[in-house]
Amino acid sequence: MAFEFIETSKQSTIGLIELNRPKQYNALNRTMVREIVEALESFDRDEDIRVIVLSGRGNAFSAGADIDEMAYDDTVKLELLNQFADWDRISLIKKPIIGAVQGFVFGGGFELALSCDMLIAAEGTEFSFPEVTLGVMPGAGGTQRLTKLVGRTKALEWIWTGNRIKAKEALQYGVINKIVQREVLMEETLKIASSISNQPPLSIRLIKESVSKAVDYSLYEGMQYERKNFYLLFSSEDQKEGMQAFVEKRKPQFKGR
Ligand code: CAA
Repeated sequence: MAFEFIETSKQSTIGLIELNRPKQYNALNRTMVREIVEALESFDRDEDIRVIVLSGRGNAFSAGADIDEMAYDDTVKLELLNQFADWDRISLIKKPIIGAVQGFVFGGGFELALSCDMLIAAEGTEFSFPEVTLGVMPGAGGTQRLTKLVGRTKALEWIWTGNRIKAKEALQYGVINKIVQREVLMEETLKIASSISNQPPLSIRLIKESVSKAVDYSLYEGMQYERKNFYLLFSSEDQKEGMQAFVEKRKPQFKGR
């Protein structure tokens, strides 16, 4: 698939999406967001792909939504454009999305990062919601996702001030999974992606679904959801293979069926 603002490739069972507008610090224009969503959906449907890695070329993961594109927008235009419907599609992706981030992870770029399931950050990465300094606020899920992750107090502090949060603090608050040196960011991210891709894909998929429900559902509803998914996995060939292999003391061969 040919894209204007991103590049995609495959490495074994891992689908790679790279934001490719480095001169503008990968500022996200609307076409670019649509391309990211289309690439994610395409890998989600691709039977050869088990994990998706999202990264940004150059010195930033992304400095946020393209300010030039929206500077003169008005409310009615935004309502009619309904651009965030594209963003909503990201949360429907079933396969794991691992973000490899560096440099600026700002505004919409931070929101895109928060839409990933795991985040590996290079040393020196800075996270920020600078929207307040532009007279607006996050619009692609930032106030919701960040608050559910770090709690109301820190979310308000970060979004009200627009301060830059260093990778260490992001790690401390559970925003990211790991900090690595810049030179090995992709290598380390691919190692994690590859270890997840070796697990039975249906389990990985239903674990993502169940854990995501914990954010939205009550404990009781979440438990019911988890239970149904647990039972569902007993219809899979991989459950038979996984348990049989344990009994036979051999390595399982998972097929994703
Ligand atoms: N939109 C459009 N262009 C951007 C951009 C953005 N968000 N961020 C950077 N750029 C462009 C700059 O305009 C500049 O382009 P030119 O070379 O053509 O002038 C180029 O990228 C390099 O930027 P700077 O010269 O500013 O580089 P710097 O190193 O001095 O500063 C920066 C880097 C601190 C990231 C600064 O560019 C910056 O503050 N960018 C804006 C960050 C921001 O406010 N993001 C939030 C956007 S709103 C949003 O995301 C809403 C939402 O929730 C959906």
